[in-house]
Amino acid sequence: MEKTSYPVKKNAVYPLEITSLAFGGKGVARIDDYVIFVKQALPGDIVNARIVKRKSSYAEAIIDSFSKKSDQRVDAPCEHFDYCGGCTWQNLEYNNQLSHKTQIVKDAIRHISGLENCEIRPIIASSRPFHYRNKMEFSFADRKWLTPDELGDPDISKDFALGLHVPGTFDKILHIEKCLLQTPECNEILAFISRYARENDIKPYGIKSHQGFLRFLVIRQSYFTKEIMVNIVTAYEDDNILKPLALKLKEKFPQITSIVNNINTRKAQIAQGEKEILLSGKDCIVDKIGPFEFNISANSFFQTNTKQAEVLYDTAMDFADLQTDDMVWDLYSGTGTISLYLAQKAKFVTGFEIAESSVQNAFQNAEKYNLENVNFIAGDVIDNMQHLKENVDVIVTDPPRSGMHEKVVDAIIKSKAQKVVYVSCNPTTMARDLKLLSSNYTIDIIQPVDMFPHTYHIECVTRLSHK
Ligand SMILES: C[S@@+](CC[C@H](N)C(=O)[O-])C[C@H]1O[C@@H](n2cnc3c(N)ncnc32)[C@H](O)[C@@H]1O
Repeated sequence: MEKTSYPVKKNAVYPLEITSLAFGGKGVARIDDYVIFVKQALPGDIVNARIVKRKSSYAEAIIDSFSKKSDQRVDAPCEHFDYCGGCTWQNLEYNNQLSHKTQIVKDAIRHISGLENCEIRPIIASSRPFHYRNKMEFSFADRKWLTPDELGDPDISKDFALGLHVPGTFDKILHIEKCLLQTPECNEILAFISRYARENDIKPYGIKSHQGFLRFLVIRQSYFTKEIMVNIVTAYEDDNILKPLALKLKEKFPQITSIVNNINTRKAQIAQGEKEILLSGKDCIVDKIGPFEFNISANSFFQTNTKQAEVLYDTAMDFADLQTDDMVWDLYSGTGTISLYLAQKAKFVTGFEIAESSVQNAFQNAEKYNLENVNFIAGDVIDNMQHLKENVDVIVTDPPRSGMHEKVVDAIIKSKAQKVVYVSCNPTTMARDLKLLSSNYTIDIIQPVDMFPHTYHIECVTRLSHK
């Protein structure tokens, strides 16, 4: 039955003190035990907040006015911060971001898993708090979303944007020429392509009209080699437009070693095409994690913070503490990056991955390093784990944000593996899965790793040992 008495009313304004941050980026306030998530609020803020959504166990609110601003607030260095969906916490000093992220993991473990005794270590900071992303995806639009300042400017052009989404929208693109998460060279390329498209009247694609040519611009830069790949995603094929642009890009930016054109003729707004045309240079760039070099093509998955991926994988290796006769499963193995690491020490590693193209890349990567003690099984991890009859000593699992299916958790328990290393990009689903695994495993240590400064995303590595 629906609860009838709530401590707050929809649309009413309440004075609230923000005490912590939630996964997802919102500030948390409480009236008695009732939780209110306040958009764009930081711990230490005292605000008057308007309730925009009310549920039985929580409400959501937006800031109406400030009574006091938090001491933890700093000026966000990015000029687009107020309206861009790329970063949530640039206005929170980096060390404070780190301690709040550690606290979010602790809260998830306490509230969702109910685990009291596991060690949760302080998060490992990213060596680069800015310019750390090796890949950024920008969208073109035929209608520019205008900031309040731009709304009153009669000279502003409204029919072209290249940038990032306004938070929570699929069709509103904020035009940007500089993103502090990518390198300065990549920003120069972004600004150049934006200017070139406008000067040459190349039409951006309309998300609603489905007319126009330019859909996405994806820029990747290898941390290790500094090579740059430019991927222009268009609605149809037209070399007459793109070849001159590719020539200009090569002339102006010698670091660009690959220019490709992905063609997406479908309505779905994705930066992957049904067809790829190589406009200039090679069809991939090379980056390196630990001792391994990887070929990365336009549509391959690759960790976006290369340097910090090494920290993540080193932590996973350390927790796995492999012996030379260990049989290992790497669940959700992607392009086999973790499997290669594990194969350096283990007797044999089996990777499980649903995406056929990633499995192909994984085999190529293993072949490049003459690693004969790895195999990859394509398909749903649930089906394949149950059929594999071999013994397993150590399981490494790195599921997507939704975490592991209950059947996968069951199969891990049935496998009787002595050690499990759980790599997670979502503390909430990780906490849920750890609770289930805790029937047979002791949760020893959780090590959060900051892969994505200024955003609310948190990566964790957990070591579990069989009871
Ligand atoms: C977080 S990524 C991990 C990739 C890899 N471990 C790495 O570090 O690069 C999760 C991977 O799980 C794969 N995946 C998602 N659902 C799956 C399923 N049901 N069975 C097998 N693989 C799945 C995705 O294709 C993706 O490659």
